[in-house]
Amino acid sequence: MVGPPSWYQLAVFLFKGKVKMKKILFFTLPLLIIVSVVILLFGVIQVHSQEDRLMDDLRRKAETVAESVELSAKYVLINNDMSGALRLVGKFQNKRRAQGAAIYGKDGRLVAVTERFKDWKDEDRQYHKDVLKKKAAKDNLSKFKKIYVYSYIVPVMDDKGELLGMVEMIYDTSYVFARSMDTWKSIIATLVVLVISLILIAALFLRQMFMVPMEKLTSWFKHFQNGESSKMPCIGKKDDMGGLVSEVEQVALSLKVARKTVSDAASARIDKEEIWTESKLKDLVHAKLGDSSLVVVSNREPFMHVIDEKTGKVKCVRPASGVVTAIDPIMRACGGTWVAQGSGNADRQFVNSKDKLGVPPEDIRYILKRVWLTQEEEEGFYYGFSNEGLWPLCHITHTRPIFRETDWQMYKEVNRRFADSVVEELPAKNAFVFIQDYHFTLAGRMIKEKRPDATVALFWHIPWPNTEVFSICPYQQEILDGMLGCDLIGFHVQYHCNNFLDTANRLLECRVDNEKNSIVRAGKETLVRPFPISIDSQFDSAVSAGESVEIEKIKNDLNLKDKIVAVGVDRIDYTKGIVERVLAVDRFLEKYPEYKGRFVFVQLSAPSRTKITRYHDLSEEIDQLVEKKNSKYFDGSWKPIIYLKRYFTPEEIKPYYRIGDICIVSSLHDGMNLVAKEYVAAKTDLSGTLILSKFTGASRELTDAIAVNPYSIEEFADSIKTACEMSAEEKRQRMESMRRNIQEHNVYRWAANIISEMTGLQKKWTL
Ligand code: G6P
Repeated sequence: MVGPPSWYQLAVFLFKGKVKMKKILFFTLPLLIIVSVVILLFGVIQVHSQEDRLMDDLRRKAETVAESVELSAKYVLINNDMSGALRLVGKFQNKRRAQGAAIYGKDGRLVAVTERFKDWKDEDRQYHKDVLKKKAAKDNLSKFKKIYVYSYIVPVMDDKGELLGMVEMIYDTSYVFARSMDTWKSIIATLVVLVISLILIAALFLRQMFMVPMEKLTSWFKHFQNGESSKMPCIGKKDDMGGLVSEVEQVALSLKVARKTVSDAASARIDKEEIWTESKLKDLVHAKLGDSSLVVVSNREPFMHVIDEKTGKVKCVRPASGVVTAIDPIMRACGGTWVAQGSGNADRQFVNSKDKLGVPPEDIRYILKRVWLTQEEEEGFYYGFSNEGLWPLCHITHTRPIFRETDWQMYKEVNRRFADSVVEELPAKNAFVFIQDYHFTLAGRMIKEKRPDATVALFWHIPWPNTEVFSICPYQQEILDGMLGCDLIGFHVQYHCNNFLDTANRLLECRVDNEKNSIVRAGKETLVRPFPISIDSQFDSAVSAGESVEIEKIKNDLNLKDKIVAVGVDRIDYTKGIVERVLAVDRFLEKYPEYKGRFVFVQLSAPSRTKITRYHDLSEEIDQLVEKKNSKYFDGSWKPIIYLKRYFTPEEIKPYYRIGDICIVSSLHDGMNLVAKEYVAAKTDLSGTLILSKFTGASRELTDAIAVNPYSIEEFADSIKTACEMSAEEKRQRMESMRRNIQEHNVYRWAANIISEMTGLQKKWTL
């Protein structure tokens, strides 16, 4: 029960904004207008009748007094007794209210007047003339000095009825107006009290009828979302808010039942499953996280709204990013919130007041929360420290990392902003945060400082270098310390885990537990685990009719019919070995000229991080190299390299994988490389050969690929020849084995492993 509020509570309630004045006014304004109009009308009538009454009294009084004075005036005028006249008018001088009398002769001339009206001149007054003419009494209201005066004038006659003169009684009427003012004051005071009372009653009514039930409903939903059933308040009587309460309770009940059924079934199944699917992951998440959901944070957002330069219309694109490829299917399966930088030039048009939107736009499955960075922040945090510092530091490609103090400061600030943004999204209980990549080495500790109860995992999507390499980073201590704020750190392969354990051991004050693969720093343990990332099954479907048409079109447009087609799909990044790939194709054709006119290499290249000089220069270098090599071989109709430089959607890429007899992945260093896995998944007909760099994480799983050292152009060229000449049977066997591996170790299993590890950790703390 909610009791009546105290005055203090009411004031707080009204003025601290719980009930907005606007809302109350909206409800009460019509009533207030009606009440005010009625009271004012009533006031006008009341004042009017009061004035009439007072003036009436005055008239009667004046009449009586004038009649009584008339007789004395008669003798004064008959005897022409001036002193008697002055005495007569002088009697009114001492009366309490200003009043007086005047005596006039028969010609209207003033004979005597009370002292206080001494300035009352015998002016030409019309009513005097009327009285003299008609010999009848008359009254009048006129202004004397600054006051309104009422005068009553009677003719004075002798016994024969001859006119002797006039007597005028004069009264100051200010007290009548003073009374009216007093009445108005009390009417206005009544009105004010009434208005305030009405507003208070409306506020109380609003609060009791709407706000309190709404607040209860909101808090009920909050606790329901957080799974805190014990804290869920009783919403109220069923008739408080019509049928809404009972409807809500029904929905909640069905949801609870559904969740329970799913989680019971899932718990029974989890361990038995071999092939992981989206729905199985969903089951696992419900079983492990219960009512809670995952909050993911990454720099790159899964959906960007950008204005199409050609059409000027806004389109929604999926950025080319390994993080997006892997995490988006997980989020589609599990729901939750993904916090990421809003980097599309039309992004702001699509978020709500909390910078959130439901994605994918065509089939909403989870929430994307966009964090806005200023140009300065993006330059320091993203281009500077993340991609000119940490990226080249972790990839052994001999590109020198650049560490600028200003970038580092901005990196810290932006990590803080993302951490705060994540904390805002965490449920009161069972909070799980999953941080992505090198952009957020500090966010884990920052989140834990505010929410020590949250389970925080970080997945490192790129390689972790050895200690010697990492130790050149001037901020090594802060970075390692920030990362060790997390409860779990995942890398793609054990080798990167080992590098990290060794780096922490040698550069930081901590204890490494080699048996448990964990690091203890200041009493806090962080598990370090390999979780080889993978893809979902979207590339693993049979060729559809629409796709066949697209494939035919590409083959015709690019003149690929009867050719051995090799494909490459990459962001334009120096780690991807695109230059080496072009050199290898060139060397292959030089060494094995019989393939001239029969072999075509199609490279799809998405521009990336182009504001960074190294990337800009690389893009130009590749353009020039491709042109040079093509002109070297061009025979009028055939050129060996088709270089398509633009962003391709996953749907656009798929037909190229299908067409590709060979896929070349030649990264100089790569955490995993999902292109290799996508290609294998897309080869449903078991044709195709994968040439895969030894320096990718994927090469440890896809052992049936042709492994190459992309730095060795000779070996690389030979591997292209091997791929071209591999028998269909060998291709089939290799492809089958790689596909089995990817099906078993898909991204759903990857997520299931990480989520299980996280919930395991959480259980440990809550015991
Ligand atoms: C790598 C990183 C990702 C990143 C992606 C694309 O895969 O591990 O974190 O999103 O490259 O790079 P970009 O800078 O465009 O996000």
